[in-house]
Amino acid sequence: MYAELLYGLAHDIDRHGPTRRVLSGHEDDPGPSGLALRLLGSVHRLVLERRAGGLAAYYPSVGGHWNAPHGVPAFVALLDRDRETVRQWLDRPPQTNEVGRATALMGGLLHLPPRLRGPVRLFEIGCSAGLNLLADRFSYVDTTGNRFGADHSPVHLRPAWRGDHLTPWPGLAFAEAVGCDLNPIEVITTEGRLALTAYVWPDQRNRLERLRGALELSRASPPAVRRQGAADFLEQLDLQDGATTVLWHSVMWQYLPTEEQERAAGVIEALGERATDTAPLVHLVLEPTRRKRTRHHEFLA
Ligand SMILES: C[S@@+](CC[C@H](N)C(=O)[O-])C[C@H]1O[C@@H](n2cnc3c(N)ncnc32)[C@H](O)[C@@H]1O
Repeated sequence: MYAELLYGLAHDIDRHGPTRRVLSGHEDDPGPSGLALRLLGSVHRLVLERRAGGLAAYYPSVGGHWNAPHGVPAFVALLDRDRETVRQWLDRPPQTNEVGRATALMGGLLHLPPRLRGPVRLFEIGCSAGLNLLADRFSYVDTTGNRFGADHSPVHLRPAWRGDHLTPWPGLAFAEAVGCDLNPIEVITTEGRLALTAYVWPDQRNRLERLRGALELSRASPPAVRRQGAADFLEQLDLQDGATTVLWHSVMWQYLPTEEQERAAGVIEALGERATDTAPLVHLVLEPTRRKRTRHHEFLA
């Protein structure tokens, strides 16, 4: 949907149409700022707020059907009509919290040997809204139909994994779960929930469904998220006797400046050296990595 839409908008820019006027002043924005995603997120939030009129008919996230020949002109007409409203969100960094990544966290936990299966204290750096701090309340099904996690959850991750046979961990519930983010999204606010939903692509139904499920869970128990940089947060982290301290992060390491990466890596290393059989540390990550400079990024968990 977005590919077709963006081709249509590029064409409108070439014709000096409303898209060009909406984006004026942003011509030199750097590529990684994701201007296209800012624009699309801004309009998606208007659709979600029922402020986009007939455009909603083309957005699957609100029950519509994407159809490029009609959807693109409807989008451009909205840009023309609501230029200033759309521009309000062009300076916001697009920010998501991908609940599907909890599969890597839970998959990692289910690899732990019995001696590490004590009470779990979970800590997450760069956790955005902190939705994955609720991972013990999601339900997971692998490709062979084995079920893990919570029984009655609004978040169903299926298929969560294929490959390795994982050992269930009945009764796994985090004794403590705390995260940090430089710019946390507050799920207790309408604005926060709207932002998280607006940056999900409207035709990714499964992704929207799991996000909505996690938002539902977060209403009863909002995740504990500190507004703090990763390295500062890690410096305050301790190990505890009789508990397994789990440090987890996904798709955030690349955003740390080199100096903070080095500081954070040093703290994690030092924590690992202090860990003992009775106060163990587990470090689980899902981060894009290049095995060689010439290779594409891969997600290594
Ligand atoms: C792509 S998002 C990933 C969020 C979440 N981990 C997930 O997988 O859904 C990256 C997150 O890292 C956060 N971030 C960037 N720099 C940071 C820093 N120095 N310390 C802590 N969080 C940071 C951003 O605010 C953003 O929420």
